Amino acid sequence: MSRIDLTINKEILSKNVQKARENNVIIPTFHQMQNPETIPAAIQEKLKGVGLWDVNPLNLFRITWKNEAKETGGLFQATPNYVEIPSKLSGVPCRIIAMAGKWFPTGCHKVGASFGCLAPRLATGQFDATWHKAVWPSTGNYCRGGAFNSKLLACESVAILPAEMSQERFSWLKSIAGEVIATPGCESNVKEIFDKTWELKADPQYMIFNQFEEMGNPMWHYNVTGFALADLYEAVKRPGDRLAGACFTSGSAGTMSAGDYLKERYPGLKLAVGEALQCPTILNNGFGGHRIEGIGDKHIPWIHNVKNTDMAIAIDDEDSQRLLRLFNTPDGHAYLKNELGLEDELIEKLSWLGISGIANVLCCIKMAKYYELTGQDVVCTVLTDSAAMYQSRITELDEMHGAYNATEAAIDHNLHVLGLKTDNMLELTYVERKRVHNLKYYTWVEQQARDVHDLNALWYDQEGTWDAVHQQAAELDELINAFNEETGLLKNL
Ligand SMILES: Cc1ncc(COP(=O)(O)O)c(C=O)c1O
Repeated sequence: MSRIDLTINKEILSKNVQKARENNVIIPTFHQMQNPETIPAAIQEKLKGVGLWDVNPLNLFRITWKNEAKETGGLFQATPNYVEIPSKLSGVPCRIIAMAGKWFPTGCHKVGASFGCLAPRLATGQFDATWHKAVWPSTGNYCRGGAFNSKLLACESVAILPAEMSQERFSWLKSIAGEVIATPGCESNVKEIFDKTWELKADPQYMIFNQFEEMGNPMWHYNVTGFALADLYEAVKRPGDRLAGACFTSGSAGTMSAGDYLKERYPGLKLAVGEALQCPTILNNGFGGHRIEGIGDKHIPWIHNVKNTDMAIAIDDEDSQRLLRLFNTPDGHAYLKNELGLEDELIEKLSWLGISGIANVLCCIKMAKYYELTGQDVVCTVLTDSAAMYQSRITELDEMHGAYNATEAAIDHNLHVLGLKTDNMLELTYVERKRVHNLKYYTWVEQQARDVHDLNALWYDQEGTWDAVHQQAAELDELINAFNEETGLLKNL
């Protein structure tokens, strides 16, 4: 079964409605996340007094790419926040536009993926907000988003993440999640997280929202991230421009579904998935530890629509680490301004790139080189989180390599950006896509008890699986509208 189960449990649903009423929770629809200008004026008025990260249910309405770039009181704008990487910096003639996740509550778009997983079960009554604990297994940002949403929706939550994730993630989680569980290992140790969820599953009070297999994740990205990227492209395109490509590094592969949307809307667009060279599972069935936090977990997520993925690109984690200091230190900024002539406003915005965001931009550069894209081509990507999440990593780099300076900045730009080559990437043939898809068998059927028929359906039945899930957003919106109607809160605003 790959469609999202929207079967209603009336008894629990009425408990959820009651709890939402008591806690002033109004749930946003997917339509509002795509078009936040349609959010009721009374809610927009109230948001003027709410900070972006405040634990206030109204912040559910900020689960959109179109927030104003403001720490507090922000409303909405037609064009999502983005950074355009100029040719002077990228070394390639095509335009690279990167949509920024920094202006979501929690500073990362994963709050949307977690909403996409929780909302169906809350609005159907499959999840009991008065009894269940929502468990958010992830390498960090998804469980931050899940814990945040749980808190806004007045539900109990449990975050599970690897012990070696950045300090910033742990400190914040401790203040939001009911329980934080650290599993052994680093970024790519997802098997250990899955093992922990099996332990928890023995207790029915824990309900697991596994982003690597929950179809709510791709449903959200297809309908919200995909739409927003198209809106961004339409806003910035010049006569004769062509949206030629989209590149996303994959953690859960949720974001990859934005590419499914773009491929339907812009036929001919090439969709690439990125991973760390140190853990080249897609490229090479490989494994290993790496430092691009949030991606690359030594397996192929159930929700990755591999058949629709045109290319795999592996990024050396040293490249993305090195650029973190170029984009976030005074000496790095001096180089970008004085040697490359970049504007202050752009230099400022380079802090909107977290480590995986840098890797995403590097994927775009490699794709541009591979397909020899021109000045009329545009490649798009997302910046999942920002450098704000990695200040401790910058300090660690300073300790490892000594303080940053002008020479290092020039070397980093020349070696780790301009020097990128078309190595470690693969245009995926039918057979290669099937090889990657087949890897799902070992994780999902052998280890995680999924049905082999459902696995085959993901490959052979596009309409009954991926297309059906993408279209479920409209059905869910009806359930959300009915839920809000029942609480009566909207009427009384
Ligand atoms: C920082 C960061 N980058 C990239 C990703 C990958 O996004 P996705 O899970 O949609 O593939 C994640 C996922 O958690 C992340 O936290």
